[in-house]
Amino acid sequence: MQNFGKVAVLAGGFSAEREVSLASGAAVLDALKSKGIDARLFDPAERDLGELKTQGFDIAFNILHGTYGEDGTVQGALDALGVRYTGCGVLASALGMDKYRCKLIWQALGLPVPPYAVLHDDSDFAAVEAQLGLPLFVKPAAEGSSVGVHKVKQAGELAQIYKQLRDEKLHGEILAEQFVSGGEYTCGVLAGEALPSVKIIPQTEFYDYEAKYLRDDTVYQCPSDLPPEQEAHMRALALRAFAAIGGGGNCGRVDFLRGADGALYVLEANTLPGMTSHSLIPKAAAQCGIGFADLCVKILQTAYVSN
Ligand SMILES: Nc1ncnc2c1ncn2[C@@H]1O[C@H](COP(=O)(O)OP(=O)(O)O)[C@@H](O)[C@H]1O
Ligand SMILES: [Mg+2]
Repeated sequence: MQNFGKVAVLAGGFSAEREVSLASGAAVLDALKSKGIDARLFDPAERDLGELKTQGFDIAFNILHGTYGEDGTVQGALDALGVRYTGCGVLASALGMDKYRCKLIWQALGLPVPPYAVLHDDSDFAAVEAQLGLPLFVKPAAEGSSVGVHKVKQAGELAQIYKQLRDEKLHGEILAEQFVSGGEYTCGVLAGEALPSVKIIPQTEFYDYEAKYLRDDTVYQCPSDLPPEQEAHMRALALRAFAAIGGGGNCGRVDFLRGADGALYVLEANTLPGMTSHSLIPKAAAQCGIGFADLCVKILQTAYVSN
């Protein structure tokens, strides 16, 4: 076993996802300790980040979700302090929070994204409805947890949902996106390799906040139902999409939608996936024989990938 020195498990933090982060942090802490690693929980909401230096930590395992932890902020601070950390660096973290700019990069590289439009006050909403078809999805570009995501079904409804989202002052541009109806998948990326895909089957109309956090009837299927050649295609797309935003050899997840005709579309990237024992990356890793504790050690090793 590589000697990692004194490891800080960064968890908690200031975002709305603080509780989720603490749950992941506790699981990671236990796992690292079970491997004989000198790991301690470090909550930046309770301690100054500078203590990482003054208290002699060698490396940070970042499991802070949302604003500050996942968006490049803490990554920049750690770079400035000269502390190594797991997961993505500043650029990939910041881009991963912004669905619009991810799409621009993926489109430029010829990766498939669902047809979409950026909405403005003076958009021709009827024309967007006609162009993308109904139903369609509307979403703020820089939120998560399905916050602000709406399915528009009725002609004429788009303008009203747009105004509502604009007035809520959510983060990022407001996007309208073609409805892709043939299933939802996610594919983990770890140290430059793709993990087996997981199919997400919500019992709600789409994978909304309720299905993600409040209900316990969402089905996560791994191995998924993709035929082998499409599984291989999804894994290749996940690696390309993740590398395109600068994720490279770190750890992350790329989410996909499948069309009714079977075509795959890249939906979004997640640069700091959850790490409780029932999170999706641990599920996918288990499928290829990597247990939770070994997974945590592998992620710790990504701190040595240059960010
Ligand atoms: N174009 C689309 N077609 C079908 N379902 C979609 C589409 N866009 C979003 N959804 C549904 O809404 C959920 C949340 O949207 P997503 O873009 O992933 O935002 P978030 O960052 O909040 O997870 C998705 O998991 C999916 O169930
Ligand atoms: Mg999503």
